[in-house]
Amino acid sequence: MLVTESDKIREDIRKLTETYGRDRSALMPILQEVQKKYCRISDIAMQEIADLLSIHPVEVYGVVSFYSFLDDKPKGRFIIRLCRTISCTMQGKARVAKQLENDLGVLFGQTTADGLFTLEWANCLGMCDQGPALLVNDQVFTQVTPDKVHDIIEGCRRSFAQHVSQKREEH
Ligand code: FES
Repeated sequence: MLVTESDKIREDIRKLTETYGRDRSALMPILQEVQKKYCRISDIAMQEIADLLSIHPVEVYGVVSFYSFLDDKPKGRFIIRLCRTISCTMQGKARVAKQLENDLGVLFGQTTADGLFTLEWANCLGMCDQGPALLVNDQVFTQVTPDKVHDIIEGCRRSFAQHVSQKREEH
């Protein structure tokens, strides 16, 4: 039998409800897991989550559109979020932002053509005394300089290449 992407998403969400339960409180952790795995939360995923948790799909959509860490559009494998709040601004955020845009060839809010990187702004990450600060997925980098931007991006590319070659060996 042909297993479609939608079947796979449904099956994954069903498994997640075994871990997190089917109460409304399971909504956030399930959304985070789906976002992590698929880099987005599709309409099908939202519908399935709503069905399994017995809540209205509009409520799921409301949560997805409220939290900027959740997205209904595809994003890059590495989401780089640079803090734009006052302390980081005073510590050189603008130079870091320029370097990120130059190195990746996209502006904030955009994803690179190879689907590897998305650039986004974030509000205070709680690292104000060590700014400029940014997140790559859930990893924090502090005291970021334009030079460090280059290392961070190279690190992401290396880890992706390793991941790809590992997958190849498995098959
Ligand atoms: S202002 Fe950037 S981490 Fe707080």
